[in-house]
Amino acid sequence: MAAKLIRVSPSILAIDYNNDEVLKKELAEIELAGANMVHVDVMDGKFVKNKTFDHKFVDKIKDMTTLILDVHLMVENPDAVIEDYAKAGADILTVHFEACKDPIKTIKKIKDNNMVAGLAINPKTPVLKIKDVLDEGLVDMVTVMGVNPGAYGQKFIPGSAEKVAEVRELNDKVYIEIDGGVTVKNSSILRKLGANVIVSGSTIFEAKNKKKVIKQLKGRCIFTKLNSLM
Ligand code: DX5
Ligand code: ZN
Repeated sequence: MAAKLIRVSPSILAIDYNNDEVLKKELAEIELAGANMVHVDVMDGKFVKNKTFDHKFVDKIKDMTTLILDVHLMVENPDAVIEDYAKAGADILTVHFEACKDPIKTIKKIKDNNMVAGLAINPKTPVLKIKDVLDEGLVDMVTVMGVNPGAYGQKFIPGSAEKVAEVRELNDKVYIEIDGGVTVKNSSILRKLGANVIVSGSTIFEAKNKKKVIKQLKGRCIFTKLNSLM
């Protein structure tokens, strides 16, 4: 059975992450507000147009928070940097299926470096394409992109909800992370279809009451109270 506890992973792409004071303040705030992880979007300006930061940034925020570091690599040739992220302290390392030459090998390398292994798929990539990789049993988390990677604050692409259901149909144990365009409203169907790690940039950081929004993103299931103790 898939984990029923819902984890929330706020994406700091939506804040002024280059300002250390802002970063510290926001990290402390989401931690207090009930977030379980912090989602760190690494972009290299090649796999996606935008460029953000690299493993040195992960190394820096490791000392600013006790939240799980959920690192989303939107880079070409992720194999080349896996060790750097392990050393920097990433807890979860997610690579894009579209960026891997040999996804099974890449996932093995992440596991060999003692990190939780995530595999992300773009809105245009059919779920069936990752079946063989999932069948190997090494992927811990599938990240279904709700938007085309590259920026926060985009609108959710509706077909992505079905893809959550398709992944859950293929595998009932893997964590399913939904990333991009998640709102309080659409989070309910996404949880029902099998998503149990909810990423959100704009919905959380633009909210007046982060605690309330994080609670709403976790949903009103019997595990909500338990979850907030974790
Ligand atoms: C998109 C990123 C997402 C994004 C989410 O490339 O991977 O993590 O920051 O932000 P929202 O929730 O605003 O779509
Ligand atoms: Zn992301």
